[in-house]
This record gives sequence, C-alpha cells and structure tokens, in this order.
Amino acid sequence: MPDSLTHKHLLEAGDLDLDDATLVLDTAAQIESALAGREVKKLPTLRGRTVVNLFFEDSTRTRISFELAAKRLSADVINFSAKGSSVSKGESLKDTALTLEAMGADGIVVRHSASGAPHRLATWVAGSVVNAGDGTHEHPTQALLDAFTIRKRLGRLDGVRVVITGDVLHSRVARSNVRLLHTLGAEVTLVAPPTLLPVGVASWPVTVSYDLDAVLTGADVLMMLRVQAERMNASFFPSAREYSRRYGLDAERMARLGDDAIVMHPGPMNRGMEIAADVADSPRSTIVEQVGNGVSVRMAVLYLLLGGNA
Ligand code: NCD
Repeated sequence: MPDSLTHKHLLEAGDLDLDDATLVLDTAAQIESALAGREVKKLPTLRGRTVVNLFFEDSTRTRISFELAAKRLSADVINFSAKGSSVSKGESLKDTALTLEAMGADGIVVRHSASGAPHRLATWVAGSVVNAGDGTHEHPTQALLDAFTIRKRLGRLDGVRVVITGDVLHSRVARSNVRLLHTLGAEVTLVAPPTLLPVGVASWPVTVSYDLDAVLTGADVLMMLRVQAERMNASFFPSAREYSRRYGLDAERMARLGDDAIVMHPGPMNRGMEIAADVADSPRSTIVEQVGNGVSVRMAVLYLLLGGNA
C-alpha cells in the first residue's frame, strides 16, 4: 500500500485509483480514531502551511468542513468568498489565483460555477488544488465522504448496490460518486426522469432506470439528490408534486428497503420534494453523519496532498 497519492491535485474522482481512494479512506479512519475522545481535536501536521478556501459559489457544509479540516491540522487558513472581494469588480480567476499565490498558498480549495475552473487554476499555481465543486462537473471530496460513510455503516464497498436518484443532470455529486464508487467496486444504478439524465449516460459504468419502485428493494444504499432549481432554465418535470410522487423518498417507499439499507443525501435538502422530513430524520438516514465524516475525509485529503512535501 503506497503512503502518498498519485497526483499532486485532487481535481476529479478519476484522479484516484483504487489504492489512492483506499488510502484516503484509511487515513480518514486513522485520523478519526486518533482524535476520538480527545478534548483538543487538533494535530500539528500542517503547522506553517497555508490553505486558501476560494469559494466563488455558495456553500455551507463544504466550506465549513474544509475550514475546520485545515484548522484541525494546524494550517493557517484564509477564507475567500467572491462576494465582497475584487471579483465583484471584475477581477479574473487567474489574477485572483496569482494574488493568492504571491501570498504563499500551499493548498487551494476551490469551488466555482464553471466546470473545469479548478483544472485551469492548477496550471497557474504552484500549490495543490482541491476541487470543492465545479459547476455540474465534479465534487470529488463529497464522493470520498460518501464512500467513507457507506464503508463505515455497511463495512464494505466492493459489491455494494448503490441507487442514486434525482437530478443527475445537474449533479457534480452524482458524477464524482459514479466514478469513485465504480473504482471501489460498488454497483451503481441511476434513477431519474429521462429529462434529468445527461446525454452520454449510456457510456457511464452504471445501470439506468426511470422507475424508483422497481429498484428499491435491491438497494443497499439509496442516495437522494437535490433538485437543483438554480441550474434549471427550463421545465424538466410537470410539477414538484408529480416529481415527488414518482422520484421522492417518503416513509412508505423507505419501508420497502432492505433491513440494513441506508439513506443518504449530500445536502442541502429540499424537504418534502426529493426526501420527506421523517425519512431525513430517521435512523436509516446518514445525512448528519455525512457532514461529520466530511471533516475527517477532508483532513485526510489535505494531509496526503500537503503533508509530505515540506
Ligand atoms: C452539493 C453541491 O454543492 O454540489 N452539496 C454539497 O456540497 N454538500 C449538492 C447540492 O448542491 O445539491
């Protein structure tokens, strides 16, 4: 087993082969147990290093957990959000990046509405770039924390049957999960109305279904996706009510899942739309756990990318 990642950046789930992905998950588990029960939840590993969180798009969980992850590794953390910065005066991504570079950033965590922005950024800076979500493209640390959560709850990933349901078309979470889960040996089924599936899905390593009820009983994991209204410029389904009826997870549908099956959602949720409130708050739901696991997994990623090249 290697002790460092193959690539300098984490731009997409495809940057991780099976050894890399397993290394991140194992490192996250080690970090979690090293900190469990400790009063001071801090490791000295990245002391003297600088991590910049560069958020050009809104975020709650991802931004906060990257900040916490870097701080728990004792890095100096700079939080930059486009609102209130010179970006609103028209400064480009490149000039923003070069400014941060001049300040000595070792790691740059970036979220941007343009697919591919982190890849561009990686060509301009000397530090490691971590993609925290780019447009509808990828969100690799979300996929890692989801895989970590599945492994923790079910004890394995190989052969696990994961059903991902909802707005796949606009979901970077779905794209990253499909790639990472495939690498880790899980079997993925995508369920969505035909209008919310991307062109080209036939070439993905997945099974596609338009009928949630038909695939429910065989699932070990049911991952619900948010309907991303802010990315929709047309009508993709007749009404919210109709969407919920066909693709929403309510208590009645949840009751048909196998005994050990879990329900996931990356957040933020539209309660009552893709997931009913009582389902989201049920013991089968890992939604709050996913957020907690996100900190350990992001610590592992920052540690593996920035820790070894002092
Ligand atoms: C997701 C995102 O921003 O891509 N949320 C997250 O990072 N936890 C999913 C979403 O916005 O629906």
